[in-house]
Amino acid sequence: MSTKPRLFSGMQPSADSLQIGNYIGALLQWREMQTTNDAIFCVVDLHALTVPQDPKLLAEQTRKTAAQYIAAGIDPEKSILFVQSHVPAHPQLAWILNTITGFGEASRMTQFKDKAAKTGTDSASVGLFAYPVLMAADILLYDTVAVPVGDDQKQHVELTRDVANRFNSRFGDTFVVPEPVIMKATARIYDLQNPTSKMSKSAASDAGVVWMLDDPGKTAKKIKSAVTDDDREIRFDRGAKPGVSNLLTILSAFTGESVPALEASFAGKGYGDLKTTVADAVVATFDPMRARALELLDDPAELDRILGRNAERALAIAGPKLELVYDRVGLLRRS
Ligand code: TYM
Repeated sequence: MSTKPRLFSGMQPSADSLQIGNYIGALLQWREMQTTNDAIFCVVDLHALTVPQDPKLLAEQTRKTAAQYIAAGIDPEKSILFVQSHVPAHPQLAWILNTITGFGEASRMTQFKDKAAKTGTDSASVGLFAYPVLMAADILLYDTVAVPVGDDQKQHVELTRDVANRFNSRFGDTFVVPEPVIMKATARIYDLQNPTSKMSKSAASDAGVVWMLDDPGKTAKKIKSAVTDDDREIRFDRGAKPGVSNLLTILSAFTGESVPALEASFAGKGYGDLKTTVADAVVATFDPMRARALELLDDPAELDRILGRNAERALAIAGPKLELVYDRVGLLRRS
């Protein structure tokens, strides 16, 4: 058994490609942390079902998401990289956790409120409401210590902690209580056209979203058309200059240079220079990743074999934990 701390995180396969916020807010940390942690990365297809998905596309989007994890540097031999629906212990534990989660505490989740507001709460699904409880199950099945996510997920990890503590005090010590790991500087990447709202795979317009699998020309064009302001100064100021601040954050994530160092290096230069530099940096990183992802997707049978082997590795950890939970709550064992 590994003595490294256990790390768990996931992404929804809710689009053909991941967007740059997923990469900067999550994948970059995942790649770094997989060497010092016992890491598990999941493609959370059951979570994607909480809003309507096209059944003809979902399986392929799931493969594409897994391929992008690998292309971005997740090693499926070292880390465990699997698909959530391949390990039924996830929805099984979620059901148990649903029974100890308060309606009131689930109602306070801001992501539910935001997503439900789009369609009206009455037509939002019960699955969307219970989304954070399934996420808690994902995390708690693996004795997870660290959950690297963007800041939009912090509240869900806090709910996970509350539910774990409640279960432990009611039924005896069963779950490790996890901690969110959020890189403050890059915790939130904003839409290029609307730099006060979070960049999202489900944005109403595609113009402000940078996709990892997009054609490099398109990516460069989108970055060069990013909304800035009427001023000329390249300075980080989230309130007064959200567009420029967002570009500086992106550049800092892709180059490893601090924002103050970037501000100094752009002194006296214009927004055009900044945008070109950001576009070049993003394309230089995403282009080889895109090529690698497409290569992996060219051999879906091999990709499916990798995911199959990894689901077995995940099940070996999740299965016994679920059995323990079933015992703790008093379910009759099948003989
Ligand atoms: P998803 O697919 O919505 O997002 C995946 C990850 O990307 C981060 N992220 C961002 N970070 C910075 N700026 C953005 N604009 C941006 N957009 C997305 C998210 O914070 C997230 O880390 N509910 C999770 C999936 C999940 C999960 C889990 C995560 C299910 N079970 C267990 C951790 C542990 C989600 O947000 O997926």
